Amino acid sequence: MREVGASPRPAVGALPRCGPKWGSRRPVQRECGRAQKWAYDLHTEIKHRILIQYLNPWLTILGSSYNSLAYVDGFAGRGRYVSGEAGSPLLVLDALVARLNTHLQEEFVCRFVEAHPENYANLEAEIARHPVSRYSRITCKLYPSTFSAASSEIMADIRQRRQPSFFFVDPFGYDDPSMATLQEVLELPRAEVLVNLMFNFAHRAMNIQGNSKLTQILDSLFGSHEWINLIPLVGQERERAFMELYRNQLRRSGAKHVVRFRMGDDQIARTLYYLIHGTKHSKGGMLMKDVMVALASPGQRGYGGATRHISMPLFDLQQRDLPKFLHSRYAGRTITFDDLIIDTLEDEETATSQEKDYRAAIRELERNGAVTIQQITTTYGLDGEDEITFALHRQSNLF
Ligand SMILES: C[S@@+](CC[C@H](N)C(=O)[O-])C[C@H]1O[C@@H](n2cnc3c(N)ncnc32)[C@H](O)[C@@H]1O
Repeated sequence: MREVGASPRPAVGALPRCGPKWGSRRPVQRECGRAQKWAYDLHTEIKHRILIQYLNPWLTILGSSYNSLAYVDGFAGRGRYVSGEAGSPLLVLDALVARLNTHLQEEFVCRFVEAHPENYANLEAEIARHPVSRYSRITCKLYPSTFSAASSEIMADIRQRRQPSFFFVDPFGYDDPSMATLQEVLELPRAEVLVNLMFNFAHRAMNIQGNSKLTQILDSLFGSHEWINLIPLVGQERERAFMELYRNQLRRSGAKHVVRFRMGDDQIARTLYYLIHGTKHSKGGMLMKDVMVALASPGQRGYGGATRHISMPLFDLQQRDLPKFLHSRYAGRTITFDDLIIDTLEDEETATSQEKDYRAAIRELERNGAVTIQQITTTYGLDGEDEITFALHRQSNLF
């Protein structure tokens, strides 16, 4: 590990893998550095917006209770894309510097892991040029290593400093991180992960029979051999089952709330990858869902791809009118506003609903006599512990 500016650079250990190269003759080492991989497209821009739009409030919320926070970019990439756009490490540093210029009081430690030597060199040079070096409250540590090799040292350091942490795990392939590593991350106090799950590569790998190396990689990706049951499934059925299994495994590994964003291909009707957020904290899950819904294509929980961005969802969501859905689910029950959102956080029926949509739905139900509200957190609004009592169906005039 090196703090920025230090030299010489330690030797790079295992080189990274960047996608499905089974049978390819192209050297692994060249793959991750290829310029084509570093073109800045809309997928990358949306991914970055999700990261930063979540991190800003995360910093504000955690920064009010802790004086030391950690950000880990486990697959940090180059500093800049070929057309000059900032990569995730620089974007996070920009956000921290902007905070520091206003009200950041806490110490912040950023850890950037990058296994490919050329990408690492570019990252290191860009960070050295970044104004962050003028801010003593922000420390950058760089690891020329694979994430799996560096993660134990990073986690030990975070544990020792008792820092809340945010891990961005954004590989090109699917052989790192393992579910076991994500479990270790989620066992840290107040840790969260945003994982880029390379669905398209991993689900295609399932179709290759008799390759023990691939079987091992898929076992470690899921932390289970259950994926074998998905092989006979096709199309949306396979994709749903795949995501269900991954989500359940992440929950078994310690994430209480898991929300996801589907990234569609621009050229053909298929999913490229999913961004998956795992956290133990309900506020974090609610916040990330709001960010993801705001950045999604209409009617979708994700980016539909160039041709489907405006119309035609590729993936059928079982969507329903929100007031009707809530009333049918909770008729005769009382629940707080936050619990209502948490309880339905991962449901398909509410996949495109933000907190403001829940508020509007409950107000509509109130106008129709289908709910009564007891103000606890707010005086006139709807938030937190405010209690909503849903009438039985026959008592309301909505249905
Ligand atoms: C998708 S890119 C990262 C992009 C970056 N997070 C961003 O948003 O700008 C993935 C990076 O991970 C690196 N990489 C591949 N395998 C790795 C591993 N096992 N550990 C750490 N880095 C790895 C690649 O060289 C590549 O630079």
